[in-house]
Amino acid sequence: MLLSSRVALVTGGAGRLGRVIAATLQREGASVAVVDKDSQAAKAVTGELGGGDRPAITAIGGDVSDTGEVARVVGEATAQLGQVDVLVNCAGIVPSRPVVEVEVEEWDRVFAVNLRGTMLMCQAMAREWIARDVKGAIVNISSGAGRSARAGGAHYSGSKAALNMLTEVLAIELGPHAIRVNAVAPGLILDDVVTEESEARHPYINLMLRGTPLGRTGAPADIAEAVAFLASERSSWTTGSIFDITGGSHCGRTHMPTTEDLS
Ligand SMILES: NC(=O)c1ccc[n+]([C@@H]2O[C@H](COP(=O)([O-])OP(=O)(O)OC[C@H]3O[C@@H](n4cnc5c(N)ncnc54)[C@H](O)[C@@H]3O)[C@@H](O)[C@H]2O)c1
Repeated sequence: MLLSSRVALVTGGAGRLGRVIAATLQREGASVAVVDKDSQAAKAVTGELGGGDRPAITAIGGDVSDTGEVARVVGEATAQLGQVDVLVNCAGIVPSRPVVEVEVEEWDRVFAVNLRGTMLMCQAMAREWIARDVKGAIVNISSGAGRSARAGGAHYSGSKAALNMLTEVLAIELGPHAIRVNAVAPGLILDDVVTEESEARHPYINLMLRGTPLGRTGAPADIAEAVAFLASERSSWTTGSIFDITGGSHCGRTHMPTTEDLS
């Protein structure tokens, strides 16, 4: 097992990706705090994953964009499970709106959750880890959208681009304390993997499929396995990496033909 006796805190742990990340870290031996703004949904996740001889799992409600909530969440996780040494920042919101239509409240909320929330969690954990000499690992969930622009994504893509830079800056600042900070940048992840274009589906999904060399959408487990690796000692010389897990869709003009017959 990759994470025996470790204690992980997963924000957004009740969501599509977060709950599978929580289950995967637990499968690898970690006790897990499932932190989410939606405390009922977090409890449903821990209800499914708790019991038997599995490592402990606990649900904690909290808003990562709020400094006081972050301090409370970290304190409760530590009190219930012991010293946290793995932090996965998966809480995020994904609105899509052209700049000419966006309201400033929505703009600010995206950055407050996706960027400030991640920073506050990293700051709280890093302060504790430095004081207690804990060689922790942080994995931030970014997005392919952080490096690839699309209409409607100014705030979301902008927040994830900044998250990538936050990851690299923190890798530099925390490396001397043996704290590693990495990110995973997923492509399109759906609960049910889609392999074929269909008129019944949203055009976004069809176009993503056409631009994905591996020919399918991602599953939450594709991301969770990478998170487990980056959280573990198997990646002990990896920090400041932004790990693209996209089926290849991030590679560029993936669905263009060759130019052989262009003339
Ligand atoms: N699904 C995808 O295709 C995809 C692709 C790339 C990146 N991502 C990223 O992965 C992460 C998870 O996405 P998902 O698809 O699981 O979304 P989701 O909406 O299913 O899950 C997000 C979770 O975060 C929680 N949350 C929202 N705001 C919060 C806050 N302020 N404090 C605490 N919790 C909060 C929500 O309650 C929800 O449970 C996000 O950061 C998203 O940007 C997703």
